[in-house]
Amino acid sequence: MRKPLIAANWKMYKTPAEATAFIGAFLPLVANQQKTEIVLCPSMTSLAVSLEATKGTQVHIGAQTMDWHDNGAYTGETSPVMLTAIGVTHVLIGHSERRQYFNETDETVNLKLKAALAHQLTPIVCVGELQAERESGRTNEVLQRQLTVGLKDIDAATATPLVIAYEPVWAIGTGLTATPEIADEAHRFIRAQLAEILSPAIAASTRILYGGSVKPDNAASLCCLEDIDGALVGGASLDPNSFAQIIANAS
Ligand code: G3P
Repeated sequence: MRKPLIAANWKMYKTPAEATAFIGAFLPLVANQQKTEIVLCPSMTSLAVSLEATKGTQVHIGAQTMDWHDNGAYTGETSPVMLTAIGVTHVLIGHSERRQYFNETDETVNLKLKAALAHQLTPIVCVGELQAERESGRTNEVLQRQLTVGLKDIDAATATPLVIAYEPVWAIGTGLTATPEIADEAHRFIRAQLAEILSPAIAASTRILYGGSVKPDNAASLCCLEDIDGALVGGASLDPNSFAQIIANAS
C-alpha cells in the first residue's frame, strides 16, 4: 500500500513572513490529516522559517531544487548538505521550469537524484512531455528517455524513497488539467518503466504524483485512480484553504 503524498510547489512566491502566515492558517486545517504525507516546498529564503513553523507537526518541508555537489565554487547554488543541516526532508528534482529556464537536463537530474539519495532526502523527480511532443505522439518516448537517463545507475536497493511526479508541461499553470484517463495512462507507463529500469518491487512501491492544474474540484477524480498516488500542486497550493481542500478531497 503506497502512502499518498501531496506536495505544494510554491515556486517563486511567498516571503518568509508570507510563508509563516500560510503555515499558521494551514496547520489547523490539516490537524487531523494523518493518512496523507504533506510536503510544502517554499523558496530557499523561506525554508528556515517554514521548518520552524512546522516543527513537531506531520507537515514536511522540501526544497524546489538543489545542486549535486556537497560544496564548492557554485555561485548561487544550494547543496544537499545545507538542506539536510536545517532539517529539509524532500527535494524536487527536474521540474519542467528548471529544465526550461535553468538548463536542467536528464543528466543533471541523474546527478541530483544520486546526491539526494546519498543524503537521505526524499527525491521527487519530475517528468512530463511538452504539448508538441504529445500532439506528435511522442509522450511515451519522452517519458522513457527522461526516466532511463534520470534513473541511470540507480541501485534499486537504495531507491525506496524515490517519488516521481508526472507533470505534463501543457497542463502546468494553464488550467488545462489532464483528464483522469490521460493521467492514468501516463502513470501506468511510468510504473512499467520503473519495473524495467529498477525492479518490479520498486515500481510497485514508488509513489507517482500527478501535477498540472490540480484544484480542489478535480483532485478527487485524479487521486482516486490506481496509479496516481497524490499530487504536486502549484498555483492552488498558495492558498491554505485551497491546498487543505485538495488534500481532503484527494484522501
Ligand atoms: O510543480 C507543480 C506545478 O508545476 C503545477 O503547477 O499551477 O499547474 O498546479 P499548477
